[in-house]
Amino acid sequence: MLEISDNGRTWLLTGPTSSYAVHLTDADELLHLHWGPRIALADAEALAVRPLPEYWPFESPLDGREEYPVEGGPRFVRPALSVRTEERRGTEWGFERYETEGDELRLRFCDDGLTVTLHYRMRGDVVERWVTLDNQGPALELLRADSATWTLPDREEWRLSQLHGRWGAESRLARAPLTYGEKVIGSRRGHTGHQHLPWVALDTDATEERGEVYGCALGWSGSWRIAVAQLPDARVQITGGAGHDDSGLLRLAPGESFTTPVFAGLWSDGGFGGASRAWHAYQRAYVIPDADQDRPVLFNSWEATEFDISEEQQSLLARRAAAIGVELFVVDDGWFGTRTSDRAGLGDWTPNPDRFPSGLKPLAEYVHALGMQFGIWVEPEMVNPDSELYRAHPEWVQHQTGRKRTEFRNQLVLNLARDDVQEYLWERLDQILSSAPIDYVKWDFNRCFTDAGWPGEPYPQRLWVDHVRALYGLLDRLRAAHPGVAFESCSGGGGRIDLGVLSRTDQVWTSDNTDPLDRLAVQHGFSQLHPARAMAAWVTDSPNAMLNHRASSLRFRFVSAMAGVLGVGGDLTRWTEEELAEAREWVTLYKEIRPVVQRGDQYRLREPRGGLSAVQYALGDETVVFAWLQAQSFGEPVPALRLRALDPTVSYECLETGEIHRGAVLAHHGLRTGLRGDLDATVIRLRRI
Ligand code: GLA
Repeated sequence: MLEISDNGRTWLLTGPTSSYAVHLTDADELLHLHWGPRIALADAEALAVRPLPEYWPFESPLDGREEYPVEGGPRFVRPALSVRTEERRGTEWGFERYETEGDELRLRFCDDGLTVTLHYRMRGDVVERWVTLDNQGPALELLRADSATWTLPDREEWRLSQLHGRWGAESRLARAPLTYGEKVIGSRRGHTGHQHLPWVALDTDATEERGEVYGCALGWSGSWRIAVAQLPDARVQITGGAGHDDSGLLRLAPGESFTTPVFAGLWSDGGFGGASRAWHAYQRAYVIPDADQDRPVLFNSWEATEFDISEEQQSLLARRAAAIGVELFVVDDGWFGTRTSDRAGLGDWTPNPDRFPSGLKPLAEYVHALGMQFGIWVEPEMVNPDSELYRAHPEWVQHQTGRKRTEFRNQLVLNLARDDVQEYLWERLDQILSSAPIDYVKWDFNRCFTDAGWPGEPYPQRLWVDHVRALYGLLDRLRAAHPGVAFESCSGGGGRIDLGVLSRTDQVWTSDNTDPLDRLAVQHGFSQLHPARAMAAWVTDSPNAMLNHRASSLRFRFVSAMAGVLGVGGDLTRWTEEELAEAREWVTLYKEIRPVVQRGDQYRLREPRGGLSAVQYALGDETVVFAWLQAQSFGEPVPALRLRALDPTVSYECLETGEIHRGAVLAHHGLRTGLRGDLDATVIRLRRI
């Protein structure tokens, strides 16, 4: 809901539990008024007439209070907008008008020929903000154009939560007190990065289920930056957008415009758990395509066969996968060009004739005949120097004249900002998807930008932004042309997970680390922002070959992976008959609980910290609890799990044991899991009677 004061200078957006208000002063200063619980327009108007504090000459009363601090004038905070023309630095804007379209509010400001429009839209309790810049004046350089600046209420002692990581160890939650100055997270790598998810949360004293939490998440898959600043008067602002530094985002010629990505903000008073559930609901309703459709159980060949693949051997794996109940069979790397290792073939998107003499069609049809969907791996934005593509077009990669072309994993980054590169990729990918019944594409990105140059282009800097736009454009075009195909975003595991890519992909590859215990921490972090519906998780072989060689039972591996979108990635040709039979049982169970996991509300009952951890999902009358015991020490009893979201006045039947539990007892005294020893795990299903 959007309400506007009679004088047209105070705007109030309201969601189911929260409100957001801004106000334009008589001097055309756009001030933040309120972000928090629902208020009435009269409350916003009362806030609007509160005078700004008076400061000694070394501080600006605007700092920490403006909705979108531009560069220049009486401001000392980090600017959200930084613009240069030949003659001038910064922006001195005047308010032009406001517009509404549906539930979207637009506040339009002008500085000579440059129009800056701030956009606001409420989606549930999530406020979506973005900015458009339209240049009708002389050419200008856009050094920085953040999507939004968020202002927090005056409180003492904020805490900052972030999700940090690296390859094989993504999305881990860190929480620490905020101090004066700025905390900056981001990526200067050209992709979202394994190092930080573009999200922060701020609270003062929240717990998992109680207290106020403010969160912001950026929808951009290139370099980015979020800066959290505690200003000299202790006020806190968060500003973020595309690009890491302020050395130039784009040049806007007369008549050109730029739209920033969305920076979404959420206030919740339901603690960290309530905030996560609101983020999940938002993504399922507004971001992730077809989120009402449950994702199938997949098999992925990577850990089983790596580069050493053939049609016959993949067919054997497919038979085994079908026999345990897998619904989607994905051939990973190695099916194309001369790609028999990571040294060659990337860029040549035609099936390897030695391995797939009649293309992918026979295998795809075989997989379909086994009752499964068929998927492939691609990494379109990259090229091996040892490839037909690179030999034909060495100028198509990002590079600078006379400088080294840095290789990571023996590959270079294609310059997707170029139209000819986009056309090539569109033509190749469209052709592959048309050549065989393909239902799924795992889209990978396995190295960062290093030599982001573009000889001959007058403003090569633009490739940082234009690469991401081209990626989005390709995904959009492929989705439109092949509406039955689902896409997975992968970047060496979780190097490209953000709201931008999630608006065009059906799920993400969470991490190359498939160790089921490490995964609990990764999944705990991931769930702070993203729903289980998007979180791919595979059961692989034991001991875990990829990372830490930990041995774990099939039970532990399945229960860990079943908390997301279940997949299997082990070498099924080496699993025993007993293991295959057990796997089949787990897959059958997963299919029964899948609607609750993928569409239900998630409650983190205990975080993974060494002992017992547990996650609960609830949908309608059904509740599913996943519990993991990392280690039991000193014979200590394993705590009971106090369940959430139950009706205390009714009873619940445990579908495993037939036991009847009182809701009040489960909520207050807890559910006993029966776990013991090391690396034990269980799934408990309850149904309301
Ligand atoms: C990346 C992915 C893996 C696998 C390999 C293939 O590392 O994260 O899952 O697809 O590439 O080369």
